[in-house]
Amino acid sequence: MKKKIKFNLNNKEINLEVNPLRRLLDLLREDLKLISPKEGCGQGECGACSVIINGNLINSCCVPVGNIQGAKVITIEGLMETKEFHILKESFDEAGAVQCGFCTPGMIMASYALLTKNKNPNEDEIRAGLSGNLCRCTGYDKIIDAVKMAAKKGESVW
Ligand code: FES
Ligand code: FES
Repeated sequence: MKKKIKFNLNNKEINLEVNPLRRLLDLLREDLKLISPKEGCGQGECGACSVIINGNLINSCCVPVGNIQGAKVITIEGLMETKEFHILKESFDEAGAVQCGFCTPGMIMASYALLTKNKNPNEDEIRAGLSGNLCRCTGYDKIIDAVKMAAKKGESVW
């Protein structure tokens, strides 16, 4: 049975009638055509589907749409025009932290979530902040370097 769902997505109000058990990941990718969140494991293990809900990093494959009633949801598409996104993008490029790129949107979301809460994280805090996000090809050191670089480059922004 469908239910009316209202939430804020990337600063736009969304009103939909949808099966409340539909996964947020499917709603974003299939219905709303926001394809930055990726489906990796589909089981909450890889972080490829990460979005930010009410300020917290969440795996959208594990969230039934009924749970986002009234929530504020952010995907990378909503960050594109921000200084924070450009700093992260530049840092990931410069650190060589992107190979196939499949994990990158999730890594960027996790880095953004971390840096907006802790503008100067130490290495342990960065590793903890990205611990729910798996990368099968770059290796984590370059990704950690990218986050350190983004923290430094964006000192006045985070
Ligand atoms: S696809 Fe959601 S955590 Fe892997
Ligand atoms: S860059 Fe390929 S999975 Fe991370």
